Amino acid sequence: MQYDVIVIGSGPGGYVAAIRCAQLGLKTAIVEKYKTLGGTCLNVGCIPSKALLDSSEHFYNAAHTFAEHGIKLADLQVDLPQMIKRKAGVVDANVTGIAFLMKKNKITVYQGFGSFVDANTLNVKKDDGSDEKITTKNFIIATGSKPSSFPSMPIDKKRVITSTEALTLQEVPKHLIVIGAGVIGAELGSVYARIGSKVSFVEFADSMIPTMDKTMGKELQKAVKKLGADFYFSHKVTSVENTGEGVVVKADAPNGQQITLEGDYCLVSVGRRPYTDGLNLEAAGLAADSRGRIEVNDHLQTKVPNIYAIGDVIRGAMLAHKAEEEGVFVAETLVGQKPHINYRLIPGVVYTWPEVASVGFTEEELKAENRAYKVGSFPYKALGRARASMDVDGLVKVLADKHTDEILGMHIIGARAADMIAECVVAMEYRASAEDIARISHAHPTYTEAIKEACLAATENRAIHM
Ligand code: FAD
Ligand code: NAI
Repeated sequence: MQYDVIVIGSGPGGYVAAIRCAQLGLKTAIVEKYKTLGGTCLNVGCIPSKALLDSSEHFYNAAHTFAEHGIKLADLQVDLPQMIKRKAGVVDANVTGIAFLMKKNKITVYQGFGSFVDANTLNVKKDDGSDEKITTKNFIIATGSKPSSFPSMPIDKKRVITSTEALTLQEVPKHLIVIGAGVIGAELGSVYARIGSKVSFVEFADSMIPTMDKTMGKELQKAVKKLGADFYFSHKVTSVENTGEGVVVKADAPNGQQITLEGDYCLVSVGRRPYTDGLNLEAAGLAADSRGRIEVNDHLQTKVPNIYAIGDVIRGAMLAHKAEEEGVFVAETLVGQKPHINYRLIPGVVYTWPEVASVGFTEEELKAENRAYKVGSFPYKALGRARASMDVDGLVKVLADKHTDEILGMHIIGARAADMIAECVVAMEYRASAEDIARISHAHPTYTEAIKEACLAATENRAIHM
């Protein structure tokens, strides 16, 4: 065998797995079909979307809040091609960084499309058409996911687009129709609403980000509405048509009536599907399940013992940091260590403004499980720090066990929620009670005081500043 491990796919699951394998002394190779490393996350996902979120937020603040801060600007304009160019530069710096890390860790990189020949051999088809067969003791499949769609909304990548095209538009849409008000819809819908697009969300569920705690969706909707967005909840899309000049979206409203929306672009963000196309799983003795996922056991091992799978291509949240944890987990498992992942405590973050961040159980889940719980919440508008920065929208909500006071879930919508959730994850990893956090000193003035105050509210309703 040429290698101890071959990793297929270089997203956050694959490249992190490869680095950890190399650190542990395993002879490692990684195979990537794209020219650059980093997968969805670095090329067309987490990083470019955050770059555009940051740029559009600067513009929005310059247009709407700078004057109040005493900063006067004249002739403010959006230069979308420049925003997209800057985003491309950010992506470039990140993917170059991964190439450097591969070299540093002596990981052999094969650029080409991998498909199984058997459970120890992979064929790599290169861009020049040539094939190379490589052999290994173990495989880690980290082939990620692709945008999904429905037959009623055929994607043409011109007017009816996915997140990938939405990251490279060269004109600000006049009217962007977003199908699916989940994470991608909320983030990319916000980008374009901030820089002047009319944005309409058509969503099958009855709220934005419907899988998160309902309070978060409700509060986020209020914030996104301020950007001028319209919402069509509980609507079923029946057709999406590219008219050449624009798009026409038809959907059934809850009252049975049909609505018709006309726009210039339609972003389809209705979820993603695991990607194993062309991988020839059967040759290795594997098959994808009915939802396209590769089945794994608690060790992330497939039914073929030397083949593991991680990240978006298996069950669980489709998140970069979940994929990374799994990459490390498999590498350490391969050398006989006993790693552990607490899936319940993988945080979820939506990088809108205000940001939304969550960990643990939602209130709806606790109700469904008949758990006895108590709630403490604290609004940003009561924080000195939030008033100073004019970021008064938002709240922290803590759910704790009614009898033991152990924190079961923490949900934040507000400025810097994405960073603040780390405190909540640490607390919950150590099985803290709300009382524990309520008694820990939090620097003043910071947004994190809202976490302490929400915990005070959860324990005998003793928030100080409310
Ligand atoms: P991927 O990143 O999808 O990587 C898989 C790689 O495998 C790809 O490079 C692909 O080309 C390669 N590949 C596939 N098949 C083959 C083959 N046969 N041969 C060779 N190579 C192959 N998550 C977050 O946690 N935070 C965020 O802020 C965030 N933002 C996102 C924004 C957008 C717009 C999108 C679309 C996703 C976002 N995600 C975010 C999700 C995140 O990108 C994914 O969860 C993550 O990339 C999954 O990592 P992965 O390693 O499993 O797969
Ligand atoms: P999603 O699952 O977050 O949202 C999809 C939305 O579409 C849901 O609200 C769903 O109810 C709705 N929907 C489904 N079918 C529909 C239909 N026929 N008509 C109307 N609405 C419909 O998926 P999304 O936003 O596409 O993102 C894909 C994945 O990428 C997510 O799993 C997410 O974890 C990941 N991601 C993570 C980000 C982050 O961590 N900040 C950012 C972007 C993506």
